[in-house]
Amino acid sequence: MTKRVGIFVSGGGSNMRALVEDMTGAHPARAAVVVSNNADSGGIAWAQSQGIATEVIDHRPFGADRPAFEAAITAALAPYALDLICLAGFMRVLTEGFVAPWAGRMLNIHPSLLPKYKGLHTHARALEAGDKEHGCTVHLVTPALDDGPILGQARVPVLAGDTPDDLAARVLKQEHRLYPAVLRRFASGEASPLLL
Ligand code: GRF
Repeated sequence: MTKRVGIFVSGGGSNMRALVEDMTGAHPARAAVVVSNNADSGGIAWAQSQGIATEVIDHRPFGADRPAFEAAITAALAPYALDLICLAGFMRVLTEGFVAPWAGRMLNIHPSLLPKYKGLHTHARALEAGDKEHGCTVHLVTPALDDGPILGQARVPVLAGDTPDDLAARVLKQEHRLYPAVLRRFASGEASPLLL
Protein backbone atom coordinates (compact mmCIF):
# COMPACT_ATOMS: atom_id res chain seq x y z
CA MET A 1 0.00 0.00 0.00
CA THR A 2 1.47 3.37 -1.04
CA LYS A 3 2.14 5.50 2.04
CA ARG A 4 0.40 8.88 2.20
CA VAL A 5 2.75 11.68 3.30
CA GLY A 6 2.00 15.14 4.64
CA ILE A 7 4.89 17.57 4.20
CA PHE A 8 5.14 20.63 6.47
CA VAL A 9 6.95 23.76 5.24
CA SER A 10 7.30 27.38 6.42
CA GLY A 11 9.47 28.96 3.74
CA GLY A 12 10.77 28.20 0.26
CA GLY A 13 10.25 24.49 0.64
CA SER A 14 13.30 23.29 -1.30
CA ASN A 15 13.44 20.11 0.79
CA MET A 16 9.74 19.50 0.18
CA ARG A 17 10.33 19.85 -3.57
CA ALA A 18 13.20 17.35 -3.41
CA LEU A 19 10.91 14.87 -1.60
CA VAL A 20 8.01 15.35 -4.03
CA GLU A 21 10.24 15.09 -7.12
CA ASP A 22 11.67 11.79 -5.80
CA MET A 23 8.25 10.26 -5.02
CA THR A 24 7.59 8.88 -8.49
CA GLY A 25 7.34 5.48 -10.15
CA ALA A 26 7.79 2.57 -7.74
CA HIS A 27 8.47 4.85 -4.77
CA PRO A 28 6.57 3.46 -1.73
CA ALA A 29 5.06 6.86 -0.84
CA ARG A 30 3.28 9.87 -2.33
CA ALA A 31 2.74 13.44 -1.13
CA ALA A 32 -0.92 13.70 -0.12
CA VAL A 33 -0.77 17.29 1.15
CA VAL A 34 1.63 20.16 1.78
CA VAL A 35 0.93 22.09 4.98
CA SER A 36 2.23 25.49 6.04
CA ASN A 37 1.82 28.05 8.79
CA ASN A 38 2.71 30.73 6.22
CA ALA A 39 0.31 31.58 3.37
CA ASP A 40 3.12 33.33 1.49
CA SER A 41 5.41 30.27 1.65
CA GLY A 42 7.10 29.59 -1.69
CA GLY A 43 6.59 25.91 -0.94
CA ILE A 44 2.80 26.28 -0.90
CA ALA A 45 2.84 28.15 -4.22
CA TRP A 46 5.00 25.46 -5.80
CA ALA A 47 2.86 22.60 -4.46
CA GLN A 48 -0.27 24.26 -5.86
CA SER A 49 1.47 24.67 -9.23
CA GLN A 50 2.02 20.88 -9.17
CA GLY A 51 -1.61 20.16 -8.36
CA ILE A 52 -0.77 18.92 -4.85
CA ALA A 53 -3.34 19.63 -2.12
CA THR A 54 -2.32 22.32 0.33
CA GLU A 55 -3.46 23.47 3.77
CA VAL A 56 -2.44 26.78 5.39
CA ILE A 57 -2.93 27.19 9.14
CA ASP A 58 -1.55 30.57 10.22
CA HIS A 59 -0.11 30.25 13.74
CA ARG A 60 -0.36 33.98 14.54
CA PRO A 61 -4.09 34.17 15.45
CA PHE A 62 -3.41 31.49 18.09
CA GLY A 63 -0.73 33.57 19.81
CA ALA A 64 0.89 31.48 22.57
CA ASP A 65 -1.85 28.81 22.46
CA ARG A 66 0.16 26.09 20.68
CA PRO A 67 -2.32 23.29 21.49
CA ALA A 68 -5.11 25.28 19.75
CA PHE A 69 -2.87 25.86 16.71
CA GLU A 70 -2.02 22.17 16.62
CA ALA A 71 -5.66 21.15 16.99
CA ALA A 72 -6.38 23.23 13.88
CA ILE A 73 -3.59 21.39 12.03
CA THR A 74 -4.94 18.02 13.17
CA ALA A 75 -8.43 18.96 11.95
CA ALA A 76 -7.04 20.08 8.59
CA LEU A 77 -5.10 16.81 8.21
CA ALA A 78 -8.02 14.50 9.01
CA PRO A 79 -9.36 14.18 5.41
CA TYR A 80 -5.95 13.07 4.09
CA ALA A 81 -5.58 9.87 6.16
CA LEU A 82 -1.82 10.31 6.38
CA ASP A 83 0.64 7.52 7.19
CA LEU A 84 3.69 9.76 7.62
CA ILE A 85 4.58 13.40 8.24
CA CYS A 86 7.78 15.00 6.97
CA LEU A 87 8.83 18.31 8.53
CA ALA A 88 10.80 20.13 5.82
CA GLY A 89 11.89 23.60 6.90
CA PHE A 90 8.84 23.86 9.21
CA MET A 91 9.81 26.51 11.74
CA ARG A 92 7.16 26.03 14.45
CA VAL A 93 8.13 23.86 17.45
CA LEU A 94 5.45 21.18 17.95
CA THR A 95 4.38 20.18 21.45
CA GLU A 96 4.24 16.66 22.88
CA GLY A 97 0.46 16.76 22.44
CA PHE A 98 0.88 16.86 18.65
CA VAL A 99 4.06 14.76 18.39
CA ALA A 100 3.08 11.80 20.60
CA PRO A 101 0.30 10.40 18.32
CA TRP A 102 2.79 10.51 15.41
CA ALA A 103 5.60 8.71 17.30
CA GLY A 104 7.73 6.74 14.82
CA ARG A 105 5.84 8.27 11.85
CA MET A 106 7.14 11.88 11.80
CA LEU A 107 10.52 12.78 10.24
CA ASN A 108 12.47 16.05 10.30
CA ILE A 109 15.56 17.39 8.56
CA HIS A 110 17.96 19.50 10.62
CA PRO A 111 21.01 21.36 9.21
CA SER A 112 23.66 19.98 11.56
CA LEU A 113 25.33 16.68 12.52
CA LEU A 114 23.04 15.96 15.49
CA PRO A 115 23.38 15.77 18.42
CA LYS A 116 25.59 18.83 17.73
CA TYR A 117 23.86 22.20 17.35
CA LYS A 118 20.23 21.56 18.12
CA GLY A 119 18.08 24.63 17.45
CA LEU A 120 18.93 27.58 15.24
CA HIS A 121 22.00 29.19 13.61
CA THR A 122 23.73 25.84 13.17
CA HIS A 123 26.14 27.02 10.45
CA ALA A 124 27.44 30.03 12.40
CA ARG A 125 27.85 27.86 15.50
CA ALA A 126 29.87 25.24 13.60
CA LEU A 127 32.13 27.98 12.24
CA GLU A 128 32.53 29.62 15.66
CA ALA A 129 33.56 26.24 17.09
CA GLY A 130 36.18 25.80 14.36
CA ASP A 131 34.63 22.53 13.16
CA LYS A 132 36.32 20.89 10.15
CA GLU A 133 33.17 19.00 9.25
CA HIS A 134 29.48 19.84 9.29
CA GLY A 135 26.33 18.48 7.67
CA CYS A 136 22.68 17.59 8.08
CA THR A 137 20.54 14.97 9.80
CA VAL A 138 17.18 13.32 9.21
CA HIS A 139 15.68 12.06 12.44
CA LEU A 140 12.41 10.83 13.91
CA VAL A 141 10.59 13.62 15.75
CA THR A 142 10.15 13.25 19.50
CA PRO A 143 8.88 15.81 22.04
CA ALA A 144 12.48 16.93 22.73
CA LEU A 145 13.62 19.39 20.01
CA ASP A 146 16.00 17.93 17.37
CA ASP A 147 16.57 14.89 19.59
CA GLY A 148 14.91 11.79 18.07
CA PRO A 149 16.53 8.63 16.63
CA ILE A 150 18.77 9.41 13.66
CA LEU A 151 17.69 7.94 10.30
CA GLY A 152 20.44 9.49 8.18
CA GLN A 153 23.33 11.96 8.04
CA ALA A 154 25.36 13.63 5.29
CA ARG A 155 28.70 15.32 5.92
CA VAL A 156 30.37 18.29 4.22
CA PRO A 157 33.80 19.84 4.72
CA VAL A 158 34.11 23.27 6.34
CA LEU A 159 36.44 25.26 4.10
CA ALA A 160 38.77 28.12 5.00
CA GLY A 161 36.98 31.44 4.64
CA ASP A 162 33.51 29.88 4.75
CA THR A 163 30.69 32.18 5.79
CA PRO A 164 27.49 30.78 7.37
CA ASP A 165 25.79 31.29 3.98
CA ASP A 166 28.53 29.35 2.15
CA LEU A 167 28.10 26.50 4.59
CA ALA A 168 24.30 26.65 4.45
CA ALA A 169 24.39 26.35 0.66
CA ARG A 170 26.80 23.39 0.77
CA VAL A 171 24.67 21.64 3.42
CA LEU A 172 21.39 22.33 1.62
CA LYS A 173 22.67 20.46 -1.45
CA GLN A 174 23.23 17.44 0.78
CA GLU A 175 19.83 17.87 2.42
CA HIS A 176 18.22 17.49 -1.01
CA ARG A 177 20.06 14.17 -1.49
CA LEU A 178 19.68 12.83 2.05
CA TYR A 179 16.00 13.48 2.82
CA PRO A 180 14.59 11.78 -0.32
CA ALA A 181 16.95 8.81 0.15
CA VAL A 182 15.95 8.40 3.80
CA LEU A 183 12.21 8.76 3.13
CA ARG A 184 12.39 6.17 0.32
CA ARG A 185 14.08 3.70 2.71
CA PHE A 186 11.86 4.52 5.68
CA ALA A 187 8.63 4.23 3.69
CA SER A 188 9.74 0.78 2.55
CA GLY A 189 10.39 -0.28 6.14
CA GLU A 190 14.16 0.25 6.30
CA ALA A 191 14.98 2.35 9.41
CA SER A 192 18.71 1.65 9.84
CA PRO A 193 20.69 4.92 9.53
CA LEU A 194 21.88 6.01 6.06
CA LEU A 195 25.27 7.76 6.06
CA LEU A 196 26.17 9.77 2.95
C1 GRF B 1 16.97 23.97 5.65
O1 GRF B 1 18.34 24.09 5.94
C2 GRF B 1 16.32 23.05 6.65
O2 GRF B 1 17.20 22.06 7.16
C3 GRF B 1 15.95 23.99 7.72
O3 GRF B 1 15.43 25.12 7.04
C4 GRF B 1 16.22 25.28 5.84
C5 GRF B 1 15.30 25.69 4.69
O4 GRF B 1 14.69 24.61 4.18
N1 GRF B 1 15.02 23.44 8.67
P1 GRF B 1 13.69 24.66 2.90
O5 GRF B 1 14.42 25.23 1.72
O6 GRF B 1 12.53 25.52 3.30
O7 GRF B 1 13.34 23.24 2.70
